[in-house]
Formats: sequence, C-alpha cells, structure tokens
Amino acid sequence: MSHKPFKAVIPAAGLGTRFLPATKAMPKEMLPVVDKPAIQYVVEEAVHAGIEDVLIIIGRNKNNIANHFDSMPELEEKLRQKGDSDKLAKVEHSNDLADIHLVRQGEPKGLGHAVLRARAHVGDHPFAVLLGDDLIDERDPLLTTMLAEYDKRGATVIALMEVDPDSIHLYGAAAIEPTETDGVVRVTGLVEKPRKEDAPSNLAIIGRYVLSPDVFDVLEHTEPGKGGEIQLTDALQELATDTNAGVYGVVFSGRRYDTGDRLDYIKAIVQLASDREDLGPDLRPWLKDFAAGL
Ligand code: UTP
Repeated sequence: MSHKPFKAVIPAAGLGTRFLPATKAMPKEMLPVVDKPAIQYVVEEAVHAGIEDVLIIIGRNKNNIANHFDSMPELEEKLRQKGDSDKLAKVEHSNDLADIHLVRQGEPKGLGHAVLRARAHVGDHPFAVLLGDDLIDERDPLLTTMLAEYDKRGATVIALMEVDPDSIHLYGAAAIEPTETDGVVRVTGLVEKPRKEDAPSNLAIIGRYVLSPDVFDVLEHTEPGKGGEIQLTDALQELATDTNAGVYGVVFSGRRYDTGDRLDYIKAIVQLASDREDLGPDLRPWLKDFAAGL
C-alpha cells in the first residue's frame, strides 16, 4: 500500500421517497434496524475493515445524523445517575466509533454529485464509498476483500451481486470479463438502470465501492443521466473504458439488505433480530407459528 489509509464516504443525502411519509422529516439512513439506525451498521462495517475516518454526506434533516454520532450529555448523565451502564455504553458507543465528519450536499442532484462533495476531504487518495441504506451482514466481510483488491490492482473496485433479471432495471448493470482470481471480474462497461433486454448481464452494482481519486475529475464533467441525476455509474463507465484506469468487480454472494426498500427493510429486521442472542430465542418460535398460520 503506497497511499494514505483509506477514508470512508457515506452518502446519506437522498430524498428516500420510497419510504415516505417516514422519511418526511428523517433521513432513511436513520430508520432503526432492530435498535440501531441503518447508518450505524454501515459506519461499524467501515470501522471493522480498518477505516477510522468517515465522512457522511448529509442533506435536509441533517441534524438527526449529526446528533446520533455526537455526545448527548443530558441523556448520558441521566443514565449514569440511574446506574444503567448497559444503556450508557450503547449511547456512548456511537460517539466513539470513528472520526466522523459531515459535509452537506445542498441539493440532491444524484449519487455522483454526492460523492463529488467528498473531494476536499478525501484529496488525492483512494477511498471507500458505502451507501448509508445498504447493509452488508457483518459475517460476510465484503469491504475488506475490496480494499485488498484495490491494493493489489491499483484501480477502482466495485461490488457486484447477481440479481433476478426481472429486477436489474433497479440497479446499475455491469458487462464483465473474468480475471485470474475467482470472484473478481474486470468491468468492461456499466449501464445505469437498464431495461431487462438491454442489460449486459444480471450482475448489479451494490452499495460498496473503493474508488480511485481519478473519479473526481470524471465527476466534475459528468452530465446528468437517468432520472436527471449525476450518476456515479456514468462516471465509473468512463473509468472502465479508460485503458489507463480500469474498474474491477468483486462478486458478492453473502447477505445484503437494501433498507431503502420497504420489503428488504422488513427482511433485514427479521433476519438480524432472529440471529441475535437477546431477541432470537423468543422471536424464532413466534415466527414459525406465524408462518404456519399463513
Ligand atoms: P437512492 O437512489 O437509493 O436514494 O440513492 P433516494 O433517491 O434517496 O431513494 P428513493 O428512490 O427516493 O427512495 C442511493 C444512495 O445515495 C444517496 C442516498 O442517500 C442513498 O444512500 N444519495 C442519493 C445522495 O446522497 N444524494 C443524492 O442526491 C442521491
């Protein structure tokens, strides 16, 4: 590794329209998944992969996110007085997780635009992008693999996942060719939200990226694309076809939840709660009875 330690960028400035009205006054990244907001899982994932510096791109309703990662002296004092050290530890944990920075995206002009807002903080170094509403199960360490691939190849690495061809229109889709490493592909082209018949494969881009800083220059001139938004996929397509740059994909087959989607959000809560020692033993039999009654 001949670069500075990776920083993480978490875009959390989208409008979250699929989750209205819950997201009218609260970012979707703050929706609780069991008892933690989705974005805390994502910050924890970055920290587990060895990243200490995390920049969150915030939009409207920014205070929710800022407050969550800040100390809450009144609440902490109340819990201290009550002697409730378990809850106090939970409250303090999110303050101490990482070195958290915040920057605003004035208007939600797209994921590519949100990532460009990180330029001043990241500088001329590779960095990770983790979407704040996309949860990767901590038992399936995707980011660590991606960071290692970046160090090996010195080029941008994205996460890909096979999806049902009927849902490829919801994602960016990748044209690929194999590499010498199982589970790692070279990306030859990318299309944002293609129609099923135009999709180059059923490999979808999911919300983890390790980006070369070259992406910033490309994003500076990327025109609005699908949905009138500046798309990160369009900038990556330019890097993929640039012979001096290149883009690689790590194909992920573990557990992943898009908590910005209502059905996936419910699945995430059920899965994570039933795996937990404090909730699982009561929840699992109830789920069996519930399913049997359907
Ligand atoms: P999505 O497309 O899932 O977010 O963006 P959205 O637009 O908020 O959702 P819906 O479709 O209206 O429900 C993927 C990620 O990029 C961030 C979002 O917060 C999410 O983490 N994003 C998107 C930004 O930070 N800024 C933007 O302008 C757009």
